[in-house]
Amino acid sequence: MAAYKIIDHTYDVVVVGAGGAGLRATMGMGQAGFKTACITKVFPTRSHTVAAQGGIGAALGNMAEDNWKWHMYDTVKGSDWLGDQDAIEYMCREAVPAVHELEHFGVPFSRTDDGKIYQRPFGGHMSNFGEKPVQRACAAADRTGHAILHTLYQQCLKHSCEFFVEYFALDLIMENGACRGVVAWNLDDGTLHRFRAHQVVLATGGYGRTYFSCTSAHTCTGDGHGLIARAGLPLQDMEFIQFHPTGIYGSGCLITEGARGEGGYLTNSAGERFMERYAPSAKDLASRDVVSRAMTVEIREGRGVGKHKDHIYLHLEHLGAETLELRLPGISETSKIFAGVDVTKEPIPVLPTAHYNMGGIPTNLHGEVLNPTSDNPDATVPGLMAIGEAACVSVHGANRLGTNSLLDIVVFGRASALRAAEVLKPGTPHKPLPKDAGDLAVSRFDRLRNANGSQHTSEIRLAMQRTMQNDAAVFRTQESLAEGCKKIGEIASTLSQIKINDRSTVWNSDLVEALELENLMDCALTAMNSAEARQESRGAHAREDFPERSDAWMKHTLAWVDNGKVKLDYRPVHTYTLTDEVEYIKPQKRVY
Ligand code: FUM
Repeated sequence: MAAYKIIDHTYDVVVVGAGGAGLRATMGMGQAGFKTACITKVFPTRSHTVAAQGGIGAALGNMAEDNWKWHMYDTVKGSDWLGDQDAIEYMCREAVPAVHELEHFGVPFSRTDDGKIYQRPFGGHMSNFGEKPVQRACAAADRTGHAILHTLYQQCLKHSCEFFVEYFALDLIMENGACRGVVAWNLDDGTLHRFRAHQVVLATGGYGRTYFSCTSAHTCTGDGHGLIARAGLPLQDMEFIQFHPTGIYGSGCLITEGARGEGGYLTNSAGERFMERYAPSAKDLASRDVVSRAMTVEIREGRGVGKHKDHIYLHLEHLGAETLELRLPGISETSKIFAGVDVTKEPIPVLPTAHYNMGGIPTNLHGEVLNPTSDNPDATVPGLMAIGEAACVSVHGANRLGTNSLLDIVVFGRASALRAAEVLKPGTPHKPLPKDAGDLAVSRFDRLRNANGSQHTSEIRLAMQRTMQNDAAVFRTQESLAEGCKKIGEIASTLSQIKINDRSTVWNSDLVEALELENLMDCALTAMNSAEARQESRGAHAREDFPERSDAWMKHTLAWVDNGKVKLDYRPVHTYTLTDEVEYIKPQKRVY
């Protein structure tokens, strides 16, 4: 559009997002010789990966015997058989070299007395195909994400990757079903930019901020999901939203599961360690869906703690000040700041809190985005990849095991670069972009910037967040979900009445929040509608009216959203492995 000056750029590869996945991909692309740009709305080391605490899963066997096949078994079981087993095999096998690679890049892991990477227990990670807990989470105290993020950023600089910091991605440039680039807004000077690339990699994180209470950063607004939805492509398994058992009551800040890995435990108002009743074997280290449901039942049945009996206590006092200082310094500080609790003396008030999105942009194990057709459920979109929490590979299926997200971001960030090196030569000439490339993005930007309706972004956002919190919660019913679909549809329609007060283009946070809200709304719409349709309980999707898992529902949901209307379809789960070193793990009855 004539009113806006557009600045053009040409790269081999453009990565959108600079969390762990984006940085690992950026670094790998740089290493492979690609002219690579990483565009990010926050400074790289402020990305949400920085908040990851407990560890990265890999069967290193530093503390006791371990095996990547046991890790694969646990991940399939944790996914409640919705994960694609070829991708899970790839991730668990690659975990061991991936963590050693991080160590060599300079990640300051905690150490055992004999100098090996320290590993702690985490929920659902077992030895010998589910026999007993194993210490598999490779940890840098309780700041593992911070350590990884900073190291990867340094590696990117070493490989001369270029960063466009505080740029907000507006829309993909699509031509005949292929991705040709992306349009972005420079928040700092207000200019608009058209990035042409042979490969665009979306590493934009999750959509935790669709919820009122979540452990995700304020920046986790499903930006990549919005780009995909507006390009007419589907999102996958959006109904599977993980609640972390231990968000701090009130603020939602994460208290790592590593706290229970180090020996912490939960109690109700009777002082009972109630997890012994729900998961006699794994107890407090059962997988997150199990612990979150147990906590919710305790509260519902009147055994919550506090004045309103609406939360649960997490005890760490018995671990002693020295262990807390050595292994859990970050959450000790967070508890003090956000709950006013001295963890050496008192329990932390906690509550299940929205934490992670298992669903997202469907991809194969190379990171290539899928656009399934009736003939080919694994058809890919040329020029487009997605990785990390934004993507649904699907290695987490219906429920992710703790520590597998840090693993996912490094393994598939690396995989995307390896794939790009197979299909693309550095410096390959570009054909010209179509004349109108990016026009749709710019007109959307202009429409929103000048929107003069009656509803503030914050009002619409709050209505959406409350609806998600109430109607797409730990437990779900037909009634709550049908109500949720109706309400979210109505709330989405109010986007047409949005009001932007600030018309400037420089650091216009009013406009940024409105753009983010449009992305979040596509996520909320697809999540709620996908959840209403799935009439079974699987992983994090717990339907009280359909309490059993059903083999008929062992399929991935696909959701398209157009003008507030959601269309659903399904594609098969991969019921095969990548190599003949392991066999397909058949669905089993759940025993905790
Ligand atoms: O509890 C935690 O430290 C979170 C880890 C994860 O989500 O993987």
